[in-house]
Amino acid sequence: MEFSIKSASPEKQRSACVVVGVFEPRKLTLAAELIDKASHNTLSDIIRRGDMEGKAGSTLLLHNVPSTLCERVLLVGLGKEKEFHEKEYCAALRSAVKALNETGASDGTIFLTETAVKKRSIAWRIRQAAIITQETVYRFEQFKSKKSEVRRPLRKLTFIIEHRNALAEAEEAMAQGLAIAAGMALARNLGNLPGNVCTPGYLAETAQQIASEHAIECQILERADMETLGMNSLLSVAKGSHQPPKLIVLHYKGGKSDEKPLVLVGKGITFDSGGISLKPGPEMDEMKFDMCGAASVLGSIKAVAQMKLPLNLTVIVPASENMPGGSASKPGDIVTSMSGQTIEILNTDAEGRLVLCDALTYAERFDPATVIDVATLTGACVIALGHVATGLFANNNSLARDLLQAGDEAQDRAWQMPLWEDYQELLKSNFADMANIGGRPAGSISAACFLSRFTKKFEWAHLDIAGTAWKSGTDKGATGRPVALLTHYLLKRAGKLH
Ligand code: BES
Ligand code: MN
Ligand code: ZN
Repeated sequence: MEFSIKSASPEKQRSACVVVGVFEPRKLTLAAELIDKASHNTLSDIIRRGDMEGKAGSTLLLHNVPSTLCERVLLVGLGKEKEFHEKEYCAALRSAVKALNETGASDGTIFLTETAVKKRSIAWRIRQAAIITQETVYRFEQFKSKKSEVRRPLRKLTFIIEHRNALAEAEEAMAQGLAIAAGMALARNLGNLPGNVCTPGYLAETAQQIASEHAIECQILERADMETLGMNSLLSVAKGSHQPPKLIVLHYKGGKSDEKPLVLVGKGITFDSGGISLKPGPEMDEMKFDMCGAASVLGSIKAVAQMKLPLNLTVIVPASENMPGGSASKPGDIVTSMSGQTIEILNTDAEGRLVLCDALTYAERFDPATVIDVATLTGACVIALGHVATGLFANNNSLARDLLQAGDEAQDRAWQMPLWEDYQELLKSNFADMANIGGRPAGSISAACFLSRFTKKFEWAHLDIAGTAWKSGTDKGATGRPVALLTHYLLKRAGKLH
C-alpha cells in the first residue's frame, strides 16, 4: 500500500473515499462540518434523521454527497469528545480502515488524523495511524487454497494533518510507523506459521534473509558450536527433537563503533509439547506460538534497520523444539549451564528459561549496555495479567520505567512485577544449584528469578509475553506484540521519538 500525508480541505478531495469523524452525540468534527457546509447540510440532515449518533465503533458510508469531489464519504463515530483519548483514537482508525477495506474504494483520504488527542503529538497520531492501518489490513492466508476476497483492495491512503508546517515531522513519523508495522507483520507471519514449517532452521534462514536485506551481520551457531561453548542447558531442551537447534545472532551497527550494543534476546521454541512433562492435548497447537519472543526481536531489528536508527543493536535467538523422545531430557536430570551453574530439570515443560539462560550468558561477550529478553515464558503470567499487559521484570528501575513508558506510548503496554530476593528461595534444589521450577504460586516471578541468576553482569529486563503474543479462539493468531513497545523504546533511546 502507498501512503502519503497532506494538509487539505475534505470537500475538495478527488478521492474514492473521504473519511471524517463524528463525535457523540451528533457533533461533527471540523472536517465533517466543511463537507456539511459544501453539501448544503447533507451530513447534518443525515445525523438529524438518526443514522449516525457518533457512537464509538459505528460507521456510515455515503455516496454522491453533493458538491464534493470524492466518490464516497465515510462517517466514523468517535464517541464523546471529552473521552476521546489515545485508545479511542486508535479504535476509530481501526474501524475506519476496516470499513474502508469493505467498500470498493481503492484509495482513501483520512481526516481522523487531524483530530487532537490529549497529550499526544502529530507525530504520535501519524505513527499510530500507519501502524494501525497495516495491522488492520494484515491477512495470513498462505495456506488457504481460496483467499478471502477484498472487492478492490486499498492501494493508497492519505493522512491529513491540520497544518502544512508539521509535514516533515509527520512524514518522519509515518516512515517510523511503516517500519514498525513491517516488523510487526514479520513477527505475526513467523508466529502464525505452523511448527512443521517454522522450525529452528527456518528461523535461522529468516534471520539470514533479514540480514541480507539490510545492513545487518548474521551468525548461526550450530549444535557443535553450542557444545563447545558449554550451552548444556539450551542443548538439553533440543535433545528430544529431530530438528537441530540453532543459536541465531544478528548485529545491526547504526551507532558509533565504540558504543555498547543493546541486546534483545527472544525465546525461540518453535513448538513446545512440554517434552517428557507432556502438555495436555487441548489447545496444544497454540504452542507453535512459543517462538513469538524470537519473532518479536527479529521484527524489531528489521524495523530498526529500516529506520536506520543511530544505535547498535544485537539480537540473540536460542531456537529449538521441545519434544518428548528416547533421548529427551527427563525430570530429575541435572545439567551444567554455560555460566557454570547447575540446574535440576524438575519439569521439562519449563524449557524457555533453560534456553534463555545460556543465551543470556552468551550476551555477556558483547559487553551490552542493556539486555532485554522477550519470552512466552509462563502460563502464570496469563493468569496474573490476562491478555492486556505484558509482564515486565527488571534488575534496574530506570530501565523498567523506560520500557513501561515505551509501552504506553506504543499502546502496547507492560506492567511491572516484583523481582524481590524473597522469591529466589522458590528455586531451591536438593541436588543442584537451582531447580528449573518454583511451584504454582508466583509462577511468572520464579521464572524471572531463574533468569535473573544469569543476568548479574548487566542491566536487564525480561518481558513475559505469554498472554499478549497471540490471540486464541475465533481470532486465533499472532499479534506482533511487543514489537511496538520494543521499537518505541529504541526510537526513544535513539532520540527519534517526537
Ligand atoms: N510456553 C510455555 C508457557 C505458556 C503456556 C505460554 C501457556 C502461553 C500459554 C512454557 O514453556 C511453559 O510450559 N511453562 C510452564 C512452566 C511450569 C512448568 C513451571 C507453565 O507455565 O505451565
Ligand atoms: Mn513449556
Ligand atoms: Zn514454552
